[in-house]
Amino acid sequence: MHNFLDALELIQALTPAQPVTLDRPQAATRAARFFVDRFPGKSLYAVKANPSPDLLRVLWNAGITHFDVASIAEVRLVAETLPEATLCFMHPVKTPEAIAEAYHTHGVRVFSLDCREELDKIVAATGAPEDLTLCVRLRVSSEHSELSLASKFGTELTEARDLLMATRQAADSLGICFHVGSQAMSPHAYVQALDRVRAAIVDASVTVDVIDVGGGFPSAYPGMQPPPLEDYFAIIERTFESLPISYSAELWCEPGRALCAEYNSIIVRVDRRRGEELYINDGAYGALFDAAHIGWRFPVRYLGDTRSSTMADFAFFGPTCDDIDYMAGPFPLPADIKAGDYIEIGMIGAYGAAMRTAFNGFGTSDHYTVGDEPMQSMYTGEARPHWRADNVVSITR
Ligand SMILES: Cc1ncc(COP(=O)(O)O)c(C=O)c1O
Repeated sequence: MHNFLDALELIQALTPAQPVTLDRPQAATRAARFFVDRFPGKSLYAVKANPSPDLLRVLWNAGITHFDVASIAEVRLVAETLPEATLCFMHPVKTPEAIAEAYHTHGVRVFSLDCREELDKIVAATGAPEDLTLCVRLRVSSEHSELSLASKFGTELTEARDLLMATRQAADSLGICFHVGSQAMSPHAYVQALDRVRAAIVDASVTVDVIDVGGGFPSAYPGMQPPPLEDYFAIIERTFESLPISYSAELWCEPGRALCAEYNSIIVRVDRRRGEELYINDGAYGALFDAAHIGWRFPVRYLGDTRSSTMADFAFFGPTCDDIDYMAGPFPLPADIKAGDYIEIGMIGAYGAAMRTAFNGFGTSDHYTVGDEPMQSMYTGEARPHWRADNVVSITR
């Protein structure tokens, strides 16, 4: 597959009629190295955020050896792509068939649960072995996060005692896990959650071997500039060390977004302009699911130098026939942008590239590797975004 310097070089060479996905392995490598080197414990990549086999190999080569998988398809994918990886099956509601295949065929030993029925199911499906690591998921607040994960999974503190005691009996190694919600904009989210963990441990008086602080580590998007990840790591480490757990207890995390958001951007073409609305060739059923359904704002830039430097705010329509294939933005682009122009949409690596469907006959997208910087980064030590102040890429280099 041909590699390009950047999006501009690509459109000049290919003038693509379909949306194109750009891979930035160097950005994913940098993110993975950051977690491997600086998170004060073990980092499991949450595969659901972006299950691309190429990305899995990039993360593995950068030192990520553990993977949080949430379905049997993800178990099979990672087992096939990275046979030596350690898999942790962290969906709290699994089928007996999935548990049995994961344990007996793929060597999975780590499972999460949040109720007694799931514990019984895991024990039965695995044959009550002596080598299970079982993580009890606690319900915690999502109040500091852009995307809540507080209502579906997690045992209440009031019920945690009995579940922890029962799980301790079945587990070789007992863990407690939680998820503070995705894109947690304050490190305090983890302190609050770990305070609940502390209360649960004290109440149940059990020996805990693993504390898993889950995902939620943020990326940078327009209008969302989180504190540095070092602040999250420092406060997690301090709070972890104050928990009533043994010296040998392990600290884990399960970053999805933070490891892959910068890995992809897409190039779309404007098929029509209607006032301040641009009809583009990717959308709600493609890589822009979050932009359509939860109003997520991604960085955009016009690819070329023939348009005005005056900017205007635009909304997008995707290619399908549905009214809801609409992304309100606002997306700032040159005021005279028109049909046939190309736009790069950045930070699509997490829950973007992975969301494509073939609905309405759309959804194909070729991948190309590019060597330039992602539009924004948590890993360059710079607070400011990487795109130029006028948001327009010059054609002259
Ligand atoms: C159990 C679990 N772990 C980790 C993640 C990754 O979360 P994030 O992408 O916010 O880091 C998720 C996301 O839904 C999850 O459900």
